[in-house]
Amino acid sequence: MINIPLLDLKAQYESIKTEIDEAVLGVIRSGRFIFGPEGEALEREIAAFCGAANAVGLASGTDALLLTLRALGVGAGDEVITTPFTFFATAETIAALGATPVFADIDPATLNMDLAELERRCTPRTKAIVAVHIFGQMPDMEQLGAIAAARGIPVLEDAAQAIGATWAGKRAGAWGRAGAFSFFPTKNLGAYGDGGMVVTDDADLAAELRVLRFHGGRVKYYHDKIGYNSRLDEIQAAVLRVKLRRLPEWNEARRRAAAFYSEAFADLAAAGKLTLPGVNPGGEPVYHLYTLRTPERDRLAAGLRARGVASAVYYPLPLHRQKAFAHLGYRDGDLPRAEQACRETLAIPCYPELTPALLDYIAAAARASLEN
Ligand SMILES: Cc1ncc(COP(=O)(O)O)c(C=O)c1O
Repeated sequence: MINIPLLDLKAQYESIKTEIDEAVLGVIRSGRFIFGPEGEALEREIAAFCGAANAVGLASGTDALLLTLRALGVGAGDEVITTPFTFFATAETIAALGATPVFADIDPATLNMDLAELERRCTPRTKAIVAVHIFGQMPDMEQLGAIAAARGIPVLEDAAQAIGATWAGKRAGAWGRAGAFSFFPTKNLGAYGDGGMVVTDDADLAAELRVLRFHGGRVKYYHDKIGYNSRLDEIQAAVLRVKLRRLPEWNEARRRAAAFYSEAFADLAAAGKLTLPGVNPGGEPVYHLYTLRTPERDRLAAGLRARGVASAVYYPLPLHRQKAFAHLGYRDGDLPRAEQACRETLAIPCYPELTPALLDYIAAAARASLEN
């Protein structure tokens, strides 16, 4: 029986095994596990890859958001505007600092924050905007940047799912005051554990992040403020350096897989049976996930499962309807486009190691699931 996972990290490892084994053993042999040459090299390489002046390694994508918001001065009484259609960490970090997440509904085609909705929600209390590049696609960053700049509001890109994506030829992370990345194992650039990074052209912001990640100090045992313990360890950095060399080729393979699906499903889309991921023409996505939409999602998922193809719902519940945010007072129907997306989206396998034969099989399985 065929069994196609949503992502195949074992196949990926097999394709880079020699380099990975060497890199990991090299760190173990060196005896240097925290704040060392691998982490420093990775910071330089990611900064160069994104086209940013600085990069700061951290323990996770969540910390990348949290520490950057804190460095931007976000705190009690502030509002931070973001999307309700994202992973919880995007808004959790805003709330963890005592600020209020303000949710702007999404554009139903790209599933990113609708920029007219964003503009409507800007107030004098808006301290920052967190722009999430959902599933690896960026919104119109020129327009978003103009809305923010007109009001003097900094933009933090939540680029956790979008390393390598571009808007107008410039990479994710390089558009905002800062860009936050996650190296969670399933991300396009994934570690063998947790990891994160912030890129920024703002040298003062980078310096502040270095202080915050090191218990609020610059010098060991001297602490200027209350900080965090947030470090990207040397083993993860060494793994990520090997994988970063493959990232452009992997992202390209994801784009090819996405293009294949969009062609394979074009007739179903024309017949109104499926909605394909909408592509914003000014950008180049990296398809962290390839997400179909249909009111018959459960039937599609069950049909795929019966044919040995994994799929997953991202996300079942929008953030404004999460129990943790009940105190914010949103009700069903307040952000209808995000709510509908949560009822209809289904991610199907879209990763570099998928062969043309497997892609064919998955497309046929999806078609059969909707037809029977
Ligand atoms: C959009 C988004 N933001 C933030 C995060 C948090 O990253 P991490 O799991 O590395 O803390 C993730 C992924 O998990 C994510 O997908």
